[in-house]
Amino acid sequence: MTPASDTFAWQPLPDGGVAVRYPADGTVTPAELAAARRAWLAAGVRYAQAFLPLPLTFSTQPLASVGFRPLTVLELHRRSVWPTDSVRTQTANGLTLWPFDGLDPAVVKATLARTYVGSLDGPELNALRLDDAPVEETGGLAVVAFRGAEPVGVLQLEASDDGTLLEFAYLGVVPEARRTGVAAALVEFAIAHAADSGRRAVLLGVDARNAPAKALYARFGFAEYERRAVWWWVNESAP
Ligand SMILES: CC(C)(COP(=O)(O)OP(=O)(O)OC[C@H]1O[C@@H](n2cnc3c(N)ncnc32)[C@H](O)[C@@H]1OP(=O)(O)O)[C@@H](O)C(=O)NCCC(=O)NCCS
Repeated sequence: MTPASDTFAWQPLPDGGVAVRYPADGTVTPAELAAARRAWLAAGVRYAQAFLPLPLTFSTQPLASVGFRPLTVLELHRRSVWPTDSVRTQTANGLTLWPFDGLDPAVVKATLARTYVGSLDGPELNALRLDDAPVEETGGLAVVAFRGAEPVGVLQLEASDDGTLLEFAYLGVVPEARRTGVAAALVEFAIAHAADSGRRAVLLGVDARNAPAKALYARFGFAEYERRAVWWWVNESAP
């Protein structure tokens, strides 16, 4: 999730895209956007996505003029963490959790890729991701959930800059294991981990169209506190 910020900047993603930081007041000149687009084309960037604060208080015409289009709305959800949350079980529902760095990277990558299948969370972007993209390093706790010997889900967490909050960088379950409680167990684990490490709240971003994920988060007391318009640009000439 890339929040709105005060300056226009972009950050390359390992999957061949870029995440654009758009200033909260929307003051980006058409010349700045055109220069950015030239740089992306020259570097073979596959797509760019920008997150705009809602309600919009500025014109999106400069974005549209370089080929950006509205994609979806990202809802930002928050749940407070209480000391009693640490009592939750850490290997709920018979799952075993393994950190990425204790696993064969090919298993991590293949499991992640399977969790994208049928996803309602920015599915348009999944189609653009490089097949051989390296796994994104979030710098936080990243685990694969196993049921027996089968990898069934992935959870990636990261701390906020000041360390008081825990953010979901990614949560996904492989299609065959959906609706069997894997995600619920991983959300419980994340909340317990947040309580154990003294965080005040857990944050996440979810595509407004992703009804299954929103039902899951609502069940654990997450509530929306902000939303962003997601706009995207696709490099039609990228292979
Ligand atoms: C969303 C997702 C993570 C849910 O994982 P899951 O393991 O199937 O979820 P669970 O079995 O733990 O379900 C827990 C609760 O979530 C809700 N839920 C999950 N899937 C649902 C669906 N398809 N429709 C409605 N509610 C759903 C229900 O409240 C469910 O409880 P119930 O089964 O007792 O009714 C999974 O569908 C997925 O990986 N999707 C693709 C990636 C994705 O969208 N990730 C979320 C990014 S924010």
